[in-house]
Amino acid sequence: MNKKYLTEIFTGIRPTGGLTVANYLGAVRPIVELQKKFTPLVFVADIHGLTDKEPKEVGQYVEGVVADYLALGLNPSKTNIYLQSAVAGEVSFLTLILSRLTTVSELLRVPTLKDKLKNKDNPEVANALLFFYPVLMAADILLNKAERVPVGEDQLAHLEITRRLAEKFNKKYGDIFPLPQTQEMKALRVLSLKGEGKMSKSIPAGAIFLTDDLKTIEKKIKSAETAFEGEMTPKLKSHILITKELATEKEDLKKVDDLIKEHEAGKAVLGEFKKVMSKVVIEFIDNFQKKRLEIVKDKDYVRSILEKGNKIAKENATKTINDVLKTMDFYR
Ligand code: TYM
Repeated sequence: MNKKYLTEIFTGIRPTGGLTVANYLGAVRPIVELQKKFTPLVFVADIHGLTDKEPKEVGQYVEGVVADYLALGLNPSKTNIYLQSAVAGEVSFLTLILSRLTTVSELLRVPTLKDKLKNKDNPEVANALLFFYPVLMAADILLNKAERVPVGEDQLAHLEITRRLAEKFNKKYGDIFPLPQTQEMKALRVLSLKGEGKMSKSIPAGAIFLTDDLKTIEKKIKSAETAFEGEMTPKLKSHILITKELATEKEDLKKVDDLIKEHEAGKAVLGEFKKVMSKVVIEFIDNFQKKRLEIVKDKDYVRSILEKGNKIAKENATKTINDVLKTMDFYR
């Protein structure tokens, strides 16, 4: 039995479309910081992508997500990247084993599923992979015996489920799973530029995609919902967060602080604020797009990175599944 962590820092992204600045801020930037001290393992969650996309579509995005990770600053000599389906057998088996430790009603109470069933799908048409989503996510994390899992705020409930499943397994069969924690810094929630809820790939008008052209970004920010003079809304707070997190120049940070002070004092300066926000976001995305263009020129490079990561994931998966089988006393 081996309760030691196999992975210091771990996270994943679904290849279901171009990434947004929210994906970057919520899940990739923490890794860019943490790789200075640790050896993170990140992955492309292609099996999770199948919850709402066809396999062909998901497959087409896989290498793109690896290129995104690299262009956003993941350093392949520090951070390893693998593809979830490279350990398809192991992760599916662990999902089934963990499913035995929860109940149908517990899974129906998961907030992300409840939201989806209320807003978009209903139980008659929603596929059952959506139902297993958090268990599959727990299997990713536990297969790699991860210590810290940086994610956006929307995924914290899934981390809680992961801890619960690990605890149940440990108690029932034997203490093999360390309990994963979130990142040390606060998990972020970036809101949609327009309408309700978080910034998400599924509501493109409210999302800034890393693939958006510079005119589109300008237009989206210009029409973003904000607040009345003197008022602070969650939306405006989120726009300030995006701007401050992406800004690289002290001058822009100061401009934001000054403008928000004036806004709070009742002055009509949010048009000016949006100009600063556009400048900062455009600089960030322009820089990203240039780097990405260089990276995708060499397809073999992207593939070689996945091959290296897949080997590490396979080693982790094999060790953990052996541990699981032995601990449960399962015939093999
Ligand atoms: P995905 O691709 O939907 O999201 C990837 C990451 O982006 C974060 N994120 C946000 N953060 C802040 N504000 C937002 N508006 C926002 N929107 C998205 C998400 O929280 C996530 O961290 N279920 C995961 C993929 C996954 C995974 C895992 C992650 C599967 N297994 C195991 C960690 C560990 C997801 O949401 O992917």
